[in-house]
Amino acid sequence: MIKACVIGWPISHSRSPLIHNYWLRKYQIDGSYTRQPVEPNALAEFIRTLRSSGYAGCNCTIPHKEAVYGLIPAADDYTRKVGAINTVFAIGDAFLGTNTDGEGFLANIASAVDVSELRNKRIVILGAGGASVAIAGFLQDQGFANLAVVNRTVERVTAMRARLGGRIEAIDWNDRSFALSECGLLVNTTSLGMQGQPPLDISLDRLPDDAVVTDIVYTPLRTQLLKDAAARGNRVVEGLGMLVRQAVRGFTLWFGKTPEVTAELFDLVALDIDPNYRR
Ligand SMILES: NC(=O)c1ccc[n+]([C@@H]2O[C@H](COP(=O)([O-])OP(=O)(O)OC[C@H]3O[C@@H](n4cnc5c(N)ncnc54)[C@H](OP(=O)(O)O)[C@@H]3O)[C@@H](O)[C@H]2O)c1
Repeated sequence: MIKACVIGWPISHSRSPLIHNYWLRKYQIDGSYTRQPVEPNALAEFIRTLRSSGYAGCNCTIPHKEAVYGLIPAADDYTRKVGAINTVFAIGDAFLGTNTDGEGFLANIASAVDVSELRNKRIVILGAGGASVAIAGFLQDQGFANLAVVNRTVERVTAMRARLGGRIEAIDWNDRSFALSECGLLVNTTSLGMQGQPPLDISLDRLPDDAVVTDIVYTPLRTQLLKDAAARGNRVVEGLGMLVRQAVRGFTLWFGKTPEVTAELFDLVALDIDPNYRR
């Protein structure tokens, strides 16, 4: 039996087991995917004993993505660029780490809109945390060069620019509503608007009518930002699709099958988040 898991602290909220176990059942693969709570001070030991514990690899979530980058070699230039690992897999005797958040993000947008229309447009990203770095770094690599990052803590944007290079415009958090004119894609990567977090306070008045709006927060499935954007006629893309799509490469690496992202899988995870969900 092939074993994989997701590690985090806390980890009880993770929907990754729902996704991977759906695919394991669908493809009748003899495997398991579990949640493993790993405290930060136990992380190095967990990674060191990954093989003797019988794992083919793991996903890493908050707060471990950056720390795992310091513990195992990165598999590719993109992962080295963003300095964070969300997927650990074995090649021969060695474990390597990669990051699938950027590809999950862009695949999610591409599932809803023609991304070539966004290539020369201004992309405004709210937030400069780990998810923002992964998304901005991937967009740069894919040739999206017109990026602006708005964050409450200015030093974090400075650090992000130093890490990613290229041209990233830094915008003060107080100017977030003014930053939306000329915007082709608005991305919320802050935790604002998530269940249990404060609301995201932003005016969409200046946002062009043809702009696409996405929120990587997926609890609730449709955040207030997306509701407001849809109400004024903008196209919106929900964050759950990113979560599901970032899981594809890990499953392929561990279990040897490229899984399909189906409407049935979406419904399964969406219903777990919101029992009143209807497609
Ligand atoms: N859909 C997916 O697959 C997916 C993948 C990854 C993450 N996520 C979600 O994305 C969100 C961010 O994750 P992360 O790993 O990037 O977290 P993170 O590194 O902790 O970053 C959090 C971001 O939110 C901002 N923020 C938090 N509270 C704020 C407030 N009161 N006012 C203004 N800004 C505030 C932070 O600004 P400061 O720098 O000023 O603190 C920072 O930019 C989480 O909700 C996570 O669940 C979703």
